[in-house]
This record gives sequence, C-alpha cells and structure tokens, in this order.
Amino acid sequence: MAPAVVSALLGVLGPLLGKLAGLVAGEYGRLRGVRREILALKCELSSIHAAVQKYTMLQDPDVQVKQWISMVRELAYDIEDCVDKFIHQLGNGRRHGGFKESFRGIARSLKALGARRGIADQIDELNARIRQVKELKNNYKLDDASCGCGTSNHAAVDPRLSALFAEESRLVGIDGPRDDLVKWMVEEGDISSKHRRVLSIVGFGGLGKTTLANAVYRKVEGHFQCRAVVSVSQKSDIKKIVKDVISQVACHEGCTDSWDERKSITKLRELLQNKRYLIIVDDIWSTLAWDAIKCAFPENEYSSRIMVTTRIVDVARSCRQSCDDRIYHMEPLSNLHCKRLFFKRIFGTEDCCVDMLKEVSNDILKKCGGLPLAIISISGLLANVPVDKEEWEKIKTSIGSALQENRSLEGMSSILSLSYNYLPPNLKTCLLYLSAFPEDHLMEREDLVRHWIAEGFISRERGHSQQDVAEQYFYELINKSMVQPVDIMHDGKVHTCRVHDMMLEILISKSAEDNFITIAGSGQPGLENHRGVIRRLSVQHIDQDLASALANEDLTHVRSLIITTSSGGIKHLPSLDKFEALRVLDFEPCADLEEYVSKGLDKLVNLKHLKLRGMGISKLPPGIVMLRDLETLDLWDTNVQELPTGFVQLTKLQHLITGNGTKIPNGIADMMNLRVISGFNITRSPSDAVEDLGNLTKLNVLDVQLDSGGSGEHVMHEKMFLSSLCKLGNSQLQYLKINRVGGSLEFLDSWSPLPCSLKKIDISINSYFTNFPKWIAPALTNLSFLHINLTELTVEGLRILGELPALLHLHLQLKSGQKDGLIVQGTGFPRLSVFITISNNGENFTFVKGAMPKLTVLHVSMNVLRAKTNGFCSGIGHLPCLRHALLCFPAEGATASDDTPAASAMRKEAAAVFQSEANAHPNRLPIMLVDELESIKFFAWMKKSKKKRMAALATVQSRMMMGG
Ligand SMILES: *[C@@H]1O[C@H](CO)[C@@H](O)[C@H](O)[C@H]1NC(C)=O
Ligand SMILES: *[C@@H]1O[C@H](CO)[C@@H](O)[C@H](O)[C@H]1NC(C)=O
Ligand SMILES: *[C@@H]1O[C@H](CO)[C@@H](O)[C@H](O)[C@H]1NC(C)=O
Ligand SMILES: *[C@@H]1O[C@H](CO)[C@@H](O)[C@H](O)[C@H]1NC(C)=O
Repeated sequence: MAPAVVSALLGVLGPLLGKLAGLVAGEYGRLRGVRREILALKCELSSIHAAVQKYTMLQDPDVQVKQWISMVRELAYDIEDCVDKFIHQLGNGRRHGGFKESFRGIARSLKALGARRGIADQIDELNARIRQVKELKNNYKLDDASCGCGTSNHAAVDPRLSALFAEESRLVGIDGPRDDLVKWMVEEGDISSKHRRVLSIVGFGGLGKTTLANAVYRKVEGHFQCRAVVSVSQKSDIKKIVKDVISQVACHEGCTDSWDERKSITKLRELLQNKRYLIIVDDIWSTLAWDAIKCAFPENEYSSRIMVTTRIVDVARSCRQSCDDRIYHMEPLSNLHCKRLFFKRIFGTEDCCVDMLKEVSNDILKKCGGLPLAIISISGLLANVPVDKEEWEKIKTSIGSALQENRSLEGMSSILSLSYNYLPPNLKTCLLYLSAFPEDHLMEREDLVRHWIAEGFISRERGHSQQDVAEQYFYELINKSMVQPVDIMHDGKVHTCRVHDMMLEILISKSAEDNFITIAGSGQPGLENHRGVIRRLSVQHIDQDLASALANEDLTHVRSLIITTSSGGIKHLPSLDKFEALRVLDFEPCADLEEYVSKGLDKLVNLKHLKLRGMGISKLPPGIVMLRDLETLDLWDTNVQELPTGFVQLTKLQHLITGNGTKIPNGIADMMNLRVISGFNITRSPSDAVEDLGNLTKLNVLDVQLDSGGSGEHVMHEKMFLSSLCKLGNSQLQYLKINRVGGSLEFLDSWSPLPCSLKKIDISINSYFTNFPKWIAPALTNLSFLHINLTELTVEGLRILGELPALLHLHLQLKSGQKDGLIVQGTGFPRLSVFITISNNGENFTFVKGAMPKLTVLHVSMNVLRAKTNGFCSGIGHLPCLRHALLCFPAEGATASDDTPAASAMRKEAAAVFQSEANAHPNRLPIMLVDELESIKFFAWMKKSKKKRMAALATVQSRMMMGG
C-alpha cells in the first residue's frame, strides 16, 4: 500500500513525466538544445520517481523521508510551472505562418528567451534543487530505509474500539434491519430452495456493517451445524483464512501447517459438504479475493448461509450469483437514532438534558452524518470534557485535526483513512481535490471531471479519451463509497455528488499534509493549515483580514483558485494578475464578479478551466481571447449576450456553456474541438454562424434556444439550423436539447440523416408537434431518453415509440387524449423504465399482458370519463416490475363542470378501482391518485426514493464506459 504522504506526490510526478515525454516527442523535441535539456530533466526526474515509488512500500515513513518527499513534491510543482511558462512563451513566437516559419520562430524565440533572464534563472535554480534533492537522498541513506521495512499491519485499528463499537450500537437502530435479515437467513423453503445463499452487506466504512453481521449471527447461529467468522481485510492470504475457518469449524481436527492452499481448501470443503454451515466473511476488498475464497465453501442443499461485508459495491454484486442471494445496502443511522446513541454515551440517558448544548450537539451530529463509528468516537471524547458549551464548540471546530492528533479518535480516523490509503495514486489526487469544496457542497460530475482534466490529473489511456478515463475514476470513487451519488439520471449516470462530512475532514487533513489545497476562511480566520507555497486555493469566505493575509503570499504558483462564497467581498482579493500560473478558476455566483474579473484575466495564459456563473455578469472582459489554452468556459446563468471579438481563436475550447441566450459568434466553425455547446440563442445569431454549427464534428452536446420571431426571419434561422443538424448526421452527437418559445418544429421533419449516436432528445416547446415527428424512428438505436410535446399520441405513434430499442425514459406532454383510449400492447418498449404522459384532459391507457415489461415508474393523467367505459381498469397488474405509480385526474378531463356531485362521485369510484388494482399488484404499489398540482411533489419524491435505488446502478456505469 502507499502511505498518503507519498501518493499525492506520485500523482504530481506521474503527469509531469508524461508531459515531458510529450514535449520530446512533439515539435519542441526537434530543437536540439531544447531536446537535450528536457531529456536531462526527464532522466533526473525518472530516477527520483523510481525512488519515490520505492518509498511507497514504507509503512510509516520517518521524518526525514517525509521531509524529502515534500521537497520533491514542491520541486515537481515548480518544474511543471516553469515548463508551462516556457511552452507558452515559445508558443507566442510562432502564432503566424507555416511550419518552416514557425520553426524559425521557435529558434528565434529561444534565443530571445536566453536573454530573458527570468526563465534562464529559474531553470538554473531548478537544476540546483534537483541536485540538492539527489544529494539529500544519498546523505540520508534513504535507500536503506526502504529495505528494512517490516510487514507490520498497517491497520492500527484499536481492537477495543471495535468491541466497544459493537456493543454500543447494537442497542440503537439496528434491530429493524437485523430482524429482517434474520428472517431471511433462517428461511427454509421447499427442497428446491435449500441452496446455499449469500448475503452481502455493503456500505461506507464506519456504518456498522460488521456489527450488523455479528448481530444477525448471534441470533441465527443455533440453526446451523457449524459456524465460523473470518476477517479478510486488505491482506487476502487465502491459505491463512481457510485454515482459520477450519480451526473454527473443526476444533478437534487441528490441521498441520504443512498443508498448502489447495489441500486446505479441499479439507474445508470436505468438512462443510454435508453440513448446514454459517460463515461470516468480513471486510472483503476485491472481487478477486472473493473468487478465491468462495471455492472453499461448497454449494450444498442444507440451507447453508454466507454473510459477506464489504465497502465495495462491485464485490457485493459479484457475491450475488443467483436471485436467491441478497445485497443489503447499509444506511446511515436516522437522526433520532444518532441522538440516542450520542447522548446515551455522554449522559447515560437518551436525551440531552442541557439546553445550551442542543445547538452544538446538533452541529456535531451533523458532521457525523449518521456514522455510528463517528458518533461513538466523538461522544467518547465529549464524555471526558466538562459539560460546557465552549468546550464543546472547541471540539466541534477541531474535529478535523482531532482526527489526526487525538488518540481517542485515532481508531475512527484509521478506519476512515483506510479506504483513502488504499486508493491508487491518481485516484487519491482526484479525491483530494474534493477537499476544495465546503461541506454539503453538491458537485456536478461533469464539472468535477473537467476540473481534474484541467489540473492535469488525467492521462489518456489506451484507446480511451481523457474524458472517459476521468469518468471511470469518478465511478471508481463512487464504487468504493468514497464519494456519494446524490442526483442520478435516467440512465444511471450520476449527475451530482457529495462527500461525507467525516470523509471531508479526513481529506482536508491529508490535503494539508501534502500541501495540496490551502483553504481560506472556513470557520477560522486567516489561512488554515497552510504550509509552504500555495498550490491551490479554496476561498470559502472573504474579509479584509484574509485579503491582507493573501496579499502577503506568493500567489504565482497557485494552480486552482476556487471561490465558493456567495456573500461577496471578492473585491478584497488580490487582483487576478497575481495568479499567473492558474489552470483552474472557478467562481460560485457572487457579487462584484464582473468587476473583479475585468482586470488581469488576460494574464492567466495557462488557464484551462474558467467558470463564471451568476446573473451579475453581462459582459466578458475582451482579454479572455488571450487564454489560448482554455478548454472550458462556463457562463451558465449569466446574462452574457455576446462573446468578445476574436473569441473563435480559442480553438482548444471543448466545453462552451454560455449564458441566457448568448449570440453565436461568427466563425464558430474554427472551434473544431468543441464537444459541448449549451445556451446559444439561435434566433438572435447571424444565420451563417448557425449554419457553421454543422461543421463542429466533435459535438456531443447541443443545447440551444430557438424562438419563432414575429417576422419571417426565423424561417431562415430554422433552415440554417436544420442544415447544420443534417451536417451533423455523421457526427457523435449524443444529446440534443431545443428550447422553443412559440411556433412549431415541423421544419425538423426533413432532418436526415440522423446521428444514430443520439442518446437523449429533449425538446421543450411552448406548442406541440401536430404530427408525430418523422425523424423518430427505430434507426435511433441508442436513444434512451425522449421528451417531447405532441398534440396527440396516435396508435401509430405509440407503435413507433415502442420500437425504439434503447428507450429507458419517455416523457410526453399531450394536448388531448385519444377518444378511444390507447392500449399498450404486449410488444415493444423492451427496456422502458419510466413512462410519463401528461395530458391536458387526460388519456385513457390500458396495459395488456406483456406490455412494457421493464417499467418501474408510471405517471399518467387519466381521463375519468373515458376510463369509465373500461370499468376503470388500467391493467397495471400486467406491469411486473412496476414500483411507483401515479395516476392523476386533470381537472379539465373529469367532466365538463368539474365540481358536480356526479363528477366527484365518479372520481371516487375511479380512485377506488385503481387503488384496488394497486393493492392487488405483487409489488404492493404505493399508488397515488392526485390532481395535477400534486404531481410536482411527486417528482420531488420520486427523485428522492430513486436515489437509493439508482445508486447501485450508477456503479455499473464505470464498467460500461470502459467497455469492460
Ligand atoms: C433570460 O433572458 C430573458 C430575456 O432576455 C429574460 O426574460 C429571462 O428572465 C432570462 N432568464 C434568466 C434565467 O436569466
Ligand atoms: C432569443 O432571441 C430572440 C431574438 O432576439 C429574443 O426575442 C428572445 O427573447 C431570445 N430568447 C432568450 C431566451 O434569450
Ligand atoms: C464547413 O463545412 C462546409 C462543408 O460542409 C465547408 O464547405 C466549409 O468550408 C466549412 N467551413 C469551415 C470554416 O471549415
Ligand atoms: C411542453 O413540454 C414542456 C415540458 O414538459 C412544458 O414545460 C411545456 O409547457 C409544454 N408546452 C405546452 C404548450 O404545454
């Protein structure tokens, strides 16, 4: 394993070596002088890199090693900054002309550079530091240090703590799940279902998985002929584990040490073959380990059971081999249970008896986020301090550092750090980056991934783009329960995520240790945990004091500046030109932003990621066109209507998220790297520019505003827009969103060819497609999300939609329902999971057997009058996977005059019939019968309940993405 102190360094050195290799291979490598310099640098760094890798074997590096490592880390940062500056200056000399000229240009500028003492001095200084680092390594005899390292157990978890933990939390909040699982464990079906079953309990570290498993074990052990509990952890020495089980199930048959792995497994299988056995396999970290262990436990027909606990969702999934097996997702404790546990431990009663401590206890409990382990550790600490508000406040603010320093919290810290420590270096770097954001901050996956790429954390891997690799990292962090998904989209992708408060504390302290991110203004005045040169700066609150503290710092090496305060005050910050090395600049909406960025932005020549959100901005500084390396510009929610002249020279731009109705700049066809475009107002743009959209062949996402003006001019725009859509027919377009006010979209009917890469089409208009759009056809083999407004849904339309092979989510807004009602036939919609139709006066759907076999969520507006001819039968009993159903009666649709006693009686009658259908459904549906207004609440509710259901799905994503 790699101790934390080293890993962040590997995450810095690795990409730097990659960058140097790229330079040698690229055009600069042709210049002899440059090539030699770079090669020499690369060679030195490689040997240092090798040494660092060796130290990753050290369990607990001593002070000297740590010091050396931090020297190397700072050196690596500085070298990268220098290299980037150098490249930029060379680049400036060759902007114009062909290759030959540019070659000469480079040569010329190299000479010029030689004269520019700045860089030359810097290079000398860096070389001197490299020598120093090498000498130190020799002096310290650091090499020897790595040989002597023992194989001591890394996990210095205090066993007493776990015991305590087990005993305490058994009393709180665990009975419900325990009894449920106990029932499942001892359930004995008929002969055919006496197979062995596996229960896996999965969740974040410290949630009490082992405690729950033990509690279940104690309740059911009497039912089994032989039993064993083994802990696997990171070290999966199969032989040892198997021998451990043997000694537990057969205490009299001590086995000889000479048995090898195979022999032990054979022996164990023999012992268990004809018995009803119960085994707990605690804390498995990889599917490989499970694969190796499971073959020691024979399948038999005695209703044997295995319980597995793990933090890794993939492991839980691989334990589930038949549908008899079960995965239990461990949830955080509820608020009520948290309080009980907390106060019981401090005061011996389940209630806080001291009023003045209520608020601070709530704050502390919030930090614990339902983790029993955290609550027990901290209440243990509080039990030993005076019952005094100030003392408690002190502990509250120091929970982060206490995790590191306070002995009584060490156990928790090491349990939570364990997951972190075992991450590969590149994932660690990505995860550490999350410590830049304050507690409870929701991060968008796409935004986060772009930050990582801009920071240089992600390198391309065989056949996969940086984007793919970064997404894979993201889902790995989700899979390992380090990051928690919050909003999940129709296809299982995570939209937003957050970090558990306790994990955030760990990350903040690791990040301080590695001088990774400096945090300013979160609670305490000044710059917290600040050591050395600031590499990344997260500003969470600004005032005059902080501003003056910052003014005294060297800011020329700050790579990321992330400002998450919305309370204003940014005008106090040192001006932007002080941050010359920035790669990432990210502002939450805040006051005075436009004024602040108007000065100095043009100096940030290395900037790759610029996020300026918020209505306060209506104009971009013209200097933005100097940022030639810019890859992301995010102006979401701003009022920027026009981009500055020369904007289209930013040809590295990949993601352009503009404001509310920005005009497309002329010449956008030059911006060939654009992958995401969002926010342009087509109607306002020059029609040539609209047509140019079709040249952007790398486009993935196109999200535009298209209005129908009063004049005839909009016809031209529609024509040009259609022309560009047709040109994109062979592109990789995946997501098309059109917002339209007024008018129809019939002109799209001649859209051809359609990019078959399209996954999501969302067309929200203020009118309806009067005819079923001609371009919706089974050729859209990847389409998984469709959202459109139709005048009416015909039988033919329904049939075509049913033929879309990949459709998961269908949302139709209908103007009027079919007179005769619609019967959803037993064919089509092979994968549809969510079906929503909202109709002004209600539709009358009937589902026959075999219809929508995968449907889980149904939301339809029912026309009571018409449904009556059916005897109000919707046939939802024919939808086997259905979990949530909402039927609503639009006011208009019930009867002409809605409030007549007859109408209300009819609604009651309908409600009763539908409810009984729902009750009879095998899944015992929560069905809701409401009026139109309520459906808004329904969506909120659905989103919430969807969260848990979909969390598991999300992790499949990583594998899907990498095609593995
Ligand atoms: C977008 O701009 C329009 C007019 O230009 C304005 O009416 C609307 O409020 C703006 N919306 C937002 C979210 O800024
Ligand atoms: C788009 O541009 C048109 C024409 O200038 C304007 O009428 C409309 O309000 C704009 N829409 C938005 C959302 O900005
Ligand atoms: C855009 O594409 C068209 C052909 O589809 C081509 O004639 C035109 O030159 C391209 N424009 C630019 C600026 O590349
Ligand atoms: C079309 O659908 C969108 C999204 O459901 C909705 O906001 C809009 O009001 C609909 N248009 C009309 C005219 O109903």
